[in-house]
Amino acid sequence: MLRNGERALRIGIIADTHDNLPNIDKAVKKLNEEGVELVLHAGDYVAPFVIPRLKGLKAKLIGVFGNNDGDRELLKRRFSENERFDLRGKFAQAVFGELKIALVHGDEEELLKALIESGAFDVIVHGHTHAAEIYHKGKTVIVNPGEVCGYLSGKVTIAILDTADRNARIIEL
Ligand code: NI
Repeated sequence: MLRNGERALRIGIIADTHDNLPNIDKAVKKLNEEGVELVLHAGDYVAPFVIPRLKGLKAKLIGVFGNNDGDRELLKRRFSENERFDLRGKFAQAVFGELKIALVHGDEEELLKALIESGAFDVIVHGHTHAAEIYHKGKTVIVNPGEVCGYLSGKVTIAILDTADRNARIIEL
């Protein structure tokens, strides 16, 4: 259900791409097919060469750092080379009307737990565990899209969030 000031928006959610270029290509293709207007990346790109590989995305991209993102200066530069890409730091907040979304990698467990328990966000996106999961805590939807790299789970997954009904779903590629 839309609240005041909101317009329906389809958001793609990815995390933990970890240098897997063929899987990144698959994710970009699927996100474009799904017609998302915005993509949130919860971190762990790893090498900066991953970022130009995302240039085929038709959507805007907002990212945060993960614990395996070592060369932060070069990652920032690669993001800044694309006018639709925005690397925020360790935390990003995206607000659409009254819908508030938090984006964080999730390696800092105490921080993630506090964010979830705060009730301050409608949606909290994180990665890091490489395990796809969507659950509710109070009014908050927590979305972990799992891993694009497929290294730990053997599954390549992304998530899609429709703001019109606040429905999130996992898609296996
Ligand atoms: Ni991580």
